[in-house]
Amino acid sequence: TLGKPEMHHRGWIDLNKNGVKDAYEDPALPTETRVADLLARMSREERVGQLLQKLMTDTSDKKDAALVTSGQLGSFLGVAPDANLRNRLQRLAVEETRLGIPLIFGFDTIHGFRTTYPIPLGLSCSWDTTLVERLTAMAARESTVVGVDWTFAPMVDIARDPRWGRIAEGNGEDPYLGGLIAAASVRGFQGNDYGRPDRVVACLKHYVGYGAAEGGRDYNTTEIGLPTLRNIYLPPFRAGVEAGAGTLMAAFNSLNGVPASGNRFTLDQVLRREWGFGGFVVGDWESVGELVHHGYAADKAEAGVLSLTAGVDMEMVSECYRELPAMIDQKKIDSAVIDEAVRRILRVKFKKGLFDQPYTAPVEVDVAAHRALAREAVAASCVLLKNEGAVLPLGTRSIAIIGPFAEEQAELLGCWHALGNAKDVVSLHAGLKAAVKKGKFRVARGCPIIEPASAKEIDAAVKQAKKADVVILALGEPALWAGENNHRLDLGLPGAQQQLFDRIVATGKPVVTVLFAGRPLAIPAVLEKSAAVLMAWHPGIEAGHGVADVLTGKVAPTARLTTSFPRSVGQVPVHYNHLHTSRPFSDYKDGTREALLPFGFGLTYTTFTYGPTRFSRDTLAMGGAITISTTLTNTGKAAGTETAQLYLHDVACLQGARPVRELKGFQRVTLAPGESREVSFTLRADELGSWSPDGKWVVEPGRFEATIAPNAASGEMAAFALQP
Ligand code: BGC
Repeated sequence: TLGKPEMHHRGWIDLNKNGVKDAYEDPALPTETRVADLLARMSREERVGQLLQKLMTDTSDKKDAALVTSGQLGSFLGVAPDANLRNRLQRLAVEETRLGIPLIFGFDTIHGFRTTYPIPLGLSCSWDTTLVERLTAMAARESTVVGVDWTFAPMVDIARDPRWGRIAEGNGEDPYLGGLIAAASVRGFQGNDYGRPDRVVACLKHYVGYGAAEGGRDYNTTEIGLPTLRNIYLPPFRAGVEAGAGTLMAAFNSLNGVPASGNRFTLDQVLRREWGFGGFVVGDWESVGELVHHGYAADKAEAGVLSLTAGVDMEMVSECYRELPAMIDQKKIDSAVIDEAVRRILRVKFKKGLFDQPYTAPVEVDVAAHRALAREAVAASCVLLKNEGAVLPLGTRSIAIIGPFAEEQAELLGCWHALGNAKDVVSLHAGLKAAVKKGKFRVARGCPIIEPASAKEIDAAVKQAKKADVVILALGEPALWAGENNHRLDLGLPGAQQQLFDRIVATGKPVVTVLFAGRPLAIPAVLEKSAAVLMAWHPGIEAGHGVADVLTGKVAPTARLTTSFPRSVGQVPVHYNHLHTSRPFSDYKDGTREALLPFGFGLTYTTFTYGPTRFSRDTLAMGGAITISTTLTNTGKAAGTETAQLYLHDVACLQGARPVRELKGFQRVTLAPGESREVSFTLRADELGSWSPDGKWVVEPGRFEATIAPNAASGEMAAFALQP
C-alpha cells in the first residue's frame, strides 16, 4: 500500500566513474576523512549548492534537473509519495554530476506516515516514552519505504497558549517531560544509527521560542527573558541534542528582536558552543528570506550572510544563499563559513549512508502490527477528565452516538497526517459498534462541525438521545483548526456544537462527551454538565477503536494532561509552572485565574489516595541525595495505573525566582484494588538547580519544597534543606 519503488539498493557504485575510488567514495574510511577529501574537490558553486533545499514537485526531475546535474542543489523536501521520482532525482545527482554527491530527501513525518497516530500533544499525554519511541520508529520505517531520509520532527516547542494552533504538534508546557519525549522521539526516528535503512534523521524544531508567539498568532514576535528561555524553552532542544539528533530547524519567529533564523546567540553561542551540537541546522520554509520581512536584513543577500553566519547551514525554499559567491567576492562573508556549513551537511549525508546506498532500500512494513500499535497509542492518549457516578466504562448497550464527530473520519487524522488516508480512519461509531457487538446504536450528527445548524437536524438528534440509555456526544474542532497558521481567537466549541450540547443535556440522559481537538478547549460548561468527558485529541486512523477501548474499559484510561486547560481564553497564557507574584491574591473581577484543569490531571477507572510526602532526611549536603516518598493506595474497586508526579519548588533563589512547582519525576504505578505501594524518587543535590541567564547550571543551597501528587494542582508541599 505504500508504493513500490523501482530502484533498490545497487550496492557499491563508483560515483565519479573514473575507474578510481577516491577517498570520499570509500565506505571503509572514517567520515571525517571522506568529508575533507570531498570538500577539497568541490568548486565554490558546488559548495553553495549543498546549502540549498527545494520543494520536490511532480515535475522536479525535469524542472530542477539542471540545478541538480550542475551540483547546485543539496536537498529536496516533500518526497512522498513517489519513490520513483525520488530515485530518478537521486540518480541525476549521483550519476550525472561531476562528484556524484547524493541529495538528502526530507519530509514532514510528524505523527505517523501512513499509519497516522495521535497528534503529538495527544501522544504526550501518555507520559510513556517507550510508546513514543516505538511509534516514531514505526513512522521512520514507513517513511523510508518511499525514500524519506530525514523527517522534520520532533517538534519540541514548549507552548503555553492554546490559541496557537501548533500547540498540537508539541508535547505541552513542561520542559522536563518535553525533554524526555524529545529524546525518545529522536531515539525512535534514528535508532542507534540513522544510517540503517529503516531509520530517518531527526530534526528538532522550531529553534527556538516559536511557541511563545504573541497573541497565539502563528509566526508572531516572541519576547522571552533569558531565565525563561534557558529554563523553559531551551531544555527540550538540549535533551534532543543530547539524544543525538542529526539536525535542527531554525524557527520563523523573531526572538527578542532578532529572527531565530539569524540568531547568533541561540544558534552559535548556545547550540554549537555550549551544547556542542555537531549536526546541521536547516532554516524553516523561507525563514532565511524572511529576515527581510522581519526588518532585520536589508535584502536577500544580507539575509543569506546573516543566517549562514549565525548558523543556519541549509536554506529551505528561499534562495538567498545563491548570492553567497558574490558576497564572498565583496568580502561580506568568509568562504570558511560556507565550508563549515558544507562539512556539517556532508557529515550527515555520509552518516545516513547516502553515498553508499543512495536509492531506496527494501523495507518490510507489517501493516497489521502498525495499526495495532496506533490503536494502543490512541487509548494511551485519551485523558479522562470527568467520570461522575462511574458512568464509564459503558455499562449499557443502548447507546446514542450524537454529534458531528460521531461518524467523522477525515478530521480525526489531525494536522500533519502525511499519507494518512481518511478512508482508513475508524470512526467513533465504527469503533463502538465493533467493541459493543450486541449494542443498540442510534446515530445522529446533530450539527456540522463549524457551520450553522438546522433546527431540524438538532431536533432529530435530541429524538435519538431520548431513546437511548446513554449518549456519547462526539464534539470538537476540525484537524486544520490546529497546526500551522491555524490559531484561534476563542477556545470554545465551534459552530452550533454548544447549542447541540445544551439540547442533548436537557434530555436528562447521562452524557459522555468525547472531545476531538488539537488543543485544550475552554469548555467549563461541558465539563460541568456532562456525566463524563474524555479528551481524545485528533487520534489518527485507529481513532474509533482506541477510543472505544477506553469507553468500554477494555483499556483503562491512564493518560494525563501535558497542557493546562483554561476556563476562558482570557486566562491565557495559562501554565502550572508560573512564578509566585508579590500579591498572589490578586484575581480577575469576573472569574478566577485557576486553570479549569491543571497540568498532570487525568482520571482512571479507580481511585487513589496519596499519603503524606516523606523525606529520607531533612537536610542534604551538596553532592548528596534525598529520597522522597509516599504511600500510594488504590482505594477503588478496579485495578488501575496511577501516574504519581514529583513536584519541586525552590523557595528562595537568588539567580532568579523559580516556578511555584516544577515536575522533577513521575512513575506509573499499577495497583490492584485495595493495594498500597511505596512510591519513591531519589533526587541528587545537583538536580536541584536551574540555568543561569548565561547558561550555567547553578545549585543554590536553601529551603526546598516537594510533593508527590496526582497533578500539578494538588498535594501538600513538605520542606527540606540543602546545606551549603
Ligand atoms: C513548517 C515546518 C515544516 C516545514 C516543511 C514549515 O512551514 O513550519 O514545521 O517542517 O514547513 O514542510
